[in-house]
Amino acid sequence: MPLNSPVLVTGGAGFIGSNFVLQWLVEQQTPVTVLDKLTYAGNLENLASVQQDSRYRFVCGDIADGALVRRLLDEQHPGAIVHFAAESHVDRSILGPGEFIRTNIEGTFQLLEAVRGYWMELPTEQRKEFRFLHVSTDEVYGSLTPTAPAFTEETPYAPNSPYSASKAASDHLVRAYHHTYGLPVLTTNCSNNYGPRQFPEKLIPLVVQNALKGLPLPVYGDGQNVRDWLYVTDHCDGIRAVLERGVAGQTYNIGGRQEMSNLEVVRQICATLDELKPAGKPYASLITFVKDRPGHDRRYAMDIAKIERELGWQPRETFAGGLRKTIQWYLDNPEWVEHVTSGSYREWIDLQYTPSSPEGAANR
Ligand code: NAD
Ligand code: DAU
Repeated sequence: MPLNSPVLVTGGAGFIGSNFVLQWLVEQQTPVTVLDKLTYAGNLENLASVQQDSRYRFVCGDIADGALVRRLLDEQHPGAIVHFAAESHVDRSILGPGEFIRTNIEGTFQLLEAVRGYWMELPTEQRKEFRFLHVSTDEVYGSLTPTAPAFTEETPYAPNSPYSASKAASDHLVRAYHHTYGLPVLTTNCSNNYGPRQFPEKLIPLVVQNALKGLPLPVYGDGQNVRDWLYVTDHCDGIRAVLERGVAGQTYNIGGRQEMSNLEVVRQICATLDELKPAGKPYASLITFVKDRPGHDRRYAMDIAKIERELGWQPRETFAGGLRKTIQWYLDNPEWVEHVTSGSYREWIDLQYTPSSPEGAANR
């Protein structure tokens, strides 16, 4: 698909979605509509810098609301959907899987249904060019032993947490809509992202925040679980490459080739903070081993040969460089953290999006 038509981005107020929208409005000329329910993880401050851009429109709503999605599609006439919206935190899925099933599975199903209806009514040429890009995760492939080869696009699915099972189910639905109805879908499976605007429940921003407050830095189990880290703008570049040059019906692994144990990651955060914001003692003295996550996957690693070979995409950022930029962003934006973690942000959302208030009515 040439990147010259409007796009509808679900979950665009979240971590990766907002980075994608900001990047899109710099790199591409075409309009972006963001559909986001503004759960605890969605934050309009992430998109404040483009609020005045005439190509940008924000709609507060649920991907499971098929009528709303269809109305937006008919109004905007997008040439592509980029589907980020999801419940994304593994620990929350262990405490309460219900919302993961509702948004990630039921929501994706309702979204696909609305998109299928819209797509079937497009003129033939536009139907061919149209793309539904589903943003998924490496976690659907399960867990690797320390020396096993990395996941390829052919690795059988073996999800282990309610989160990864719900993402796997959504991947299967997306695949089925291509196979059965011919909907031109693309799926990307990506490794752990890090960078600006990540909600401070995830490892890297949580450790940064705790360190700055002098609180314990919680490392689950023995700290030897391994993740592959990718800087968020590299992920967004990869998604645009897949959207533009990917073959409909195909899946593409995206990763950073930066495998590290959690303990190494936490130590590197501490060392970077020691340099950027020295405290009286080394931050590493705050590292605390805590009870392990139930069912904790031991290792993820991505084989990214396909996207490199076929689409010419490669990660550009090193872990050290990306981590430094990330930490600097959190140091420069303490009010962002304050807002997302305090009740005041929630209150503002309720005021802004309650149908009975004038502000709320304007945004619905
Ligand atoms: P996030 O939790 O930061 O953001 C999710 C966004 O989706 C939020 O803005 C939230 O308000 C919105 N949302 C949730 N439920 C919704 C609903 N029912 N309707 C509309 N909007 C809804 O997540 P993220 O880390 O930015 O991840 C985005 C996507 O990328 C997810 O699909 C996730 O599975 C996938 N992914 C994430 C990573 C990662 O490391 N963060 C890696 C690979 C894939
Ligand atoms: O692999 C891609 C996935 O990466 C995405 O699909 C998910 O949406 C995203 O949340 C992320 O999942 P993880 O579970 O890997 O991310 P998290 O930041 O929660 O944890 C990273 C690792 O650090 C994991 O092995 C658990 C560990 N951890 C996490 C936290 C929050 C700790 O040791 N201590 C912690 O306090």
